Amino acid sequence: MKLLAIESSCDETAAAVVEDGRRVLSSVIHSQIEEHRQYGGVVPEVASRRHAENIIGVTQRALDEACQSLEEIDGIAVTYAPGLIGAVLVGVNFAKGLAMAAQKPLIPVHHIRGHIAANYIAHPQLEPPFLCLVVSGGHSHLIEVLDYTRFRIVGRTRDDAAGEAFDKAARAMGFPYPGGVFLDRVAQIGDPSAYSLPRPRVEGSPYDFSFSGLKTAVVNLLHNAAQKGETVCTNDLAASFQQAAVEILTSRFVMAAQELGYRKLVVAGGVSANSGLRRAMEDICQKKGWQLYQPPLSLCGDNGAMIGAQGYYEFLAGHTAGLDLNGVASLPVDAQ
Ligand code: KG4
Ligand code: ZN
Repeated sequence: MKLLAIESSCDETAAAVVEDGRRVLSSVIHSQIEEHRQYGGVVPEVASRRHAENIIGVTQRALDEACQSLEEIDGIAVTYAPGLIGAVLVGVNFAKGLAMAAQKPLIPVHHIRGHIAANYIAHPQLEPPFLCLVVSGGHSHLIEVLDYTRFRIVGRTRDDAAGEAFDKAARAMGFPYPGGVFLDRVAQIGDPSAYSLPRPRVEGSPYDFSFSGLKTAVVNLLHNAAQKGETVCTNDLAASFQQAAVEILTSRFVMAAQELGYRKLVVAGGVSANSGLRRAMEDICQKKGWQLYQPPLSLCGDNGAMIGAQGYYEFLAGHTAGLDLNGVASLPVDAQ
C-alpha cells in the first residue's frame, strides 16, 4: 500500500511517498528555518504563509521522485495534531482537497506518533511493544508503545520540552535559533564537569522531567559572570548543560524501563539527534543487555516519511477521516 504523506505542523513543509509503512519511495522537506532565525523562533503567521506557498511544489516533487501519479497512490496521510494551528490547517486542508479530488482515503496522523514511527523505517525488525522516549522542540514524553496505535504516557515534562531547554540555553550562550545543534557541536570539545548544574526532580512523579531549573541556572551563571566581568568558557558550559540534560532524560528512561519491565528501548524526536544522548543510551543499553533503537539523523527532525509510516498502521487499524477533519493544536498521543 502506497501512501502520500503530508507534514506541516511547525516550520518544515514536507511530503513523502511510503510503501507499507516501512519503505520510503521519496521524502521532500522544505525548511523555513533560515527565515525564522532572524526572529529567534518560529513566527506562526509566517510559517502558515510559507506552507501555503510551498505545499503544492513539495508534494509534486515527492510524487515525481517516487515516480508515482496521484491515481497510483492508495491514500493520503496528514499530520492533524498537535502543532501550530495555522500551519497544521494548511496541510490538513490540502490533504482533504487531494483526497476528495482523487477519491482516496484520508488518514489523520498524530505528529508524535509519526516521530515514533520514524524508527519503523530505519529498523525493519522493530515492532511494539516497547518503551519510547520522545524528545522534540515541543514535547518530552516517556511513552509505552503497546501496539502501533495504542499508547500510554508514563512520564512527561512539567515545564520546558527538552529541545526547548536546549534552544533557550543555547540562545543564552549566544547561538542562533534553533541552538540545540550548535550547543551539541561545541559540547563535544568542552569539559562536562567544568560547571556544576542542577538535575531537578519532580516530587512524587519519578518518570516526569523538569528542565526550567537547569535552563535558569545557565542563564543566571552567564548573568553573574557578566556582572563580575568574568569570562565563561562556552564549550565547557555547553558540555556541562548537555551532560545534565542527558542525565535527566536517561535516568527517568532507565528507571521506567526497569520498573515497567521493558528491554526494548526507542528514542524519537528532534533531540534524538543529540550526540550526548545517543552515546549515553548506547552505553546504558549495552551494559544492561537491552535492545536500543534510535532514528538515523535524517529521520530525527520533522519529515513526511514518518507520517507515511504511522499513517499505514493507522489505516490498518481503521483510522480514516471524512472531509470534516479539522486540525488540533494540542492533543495527547494516546487520544483515540
Ligand atoms: O522534532 P523536531 O524537529 O520538531 C518538533 O516536533 O518540535 O525537534 C526540533 C528540536 C529543536 O528544539 C532543536 O534544537 C532540537 O530538536 N535538536 C537538538 C539537536 N538537533 C535538533 N537538540 C539537541 N541536540 C541536537 N543535536
Ligand atoms: Zn516534530
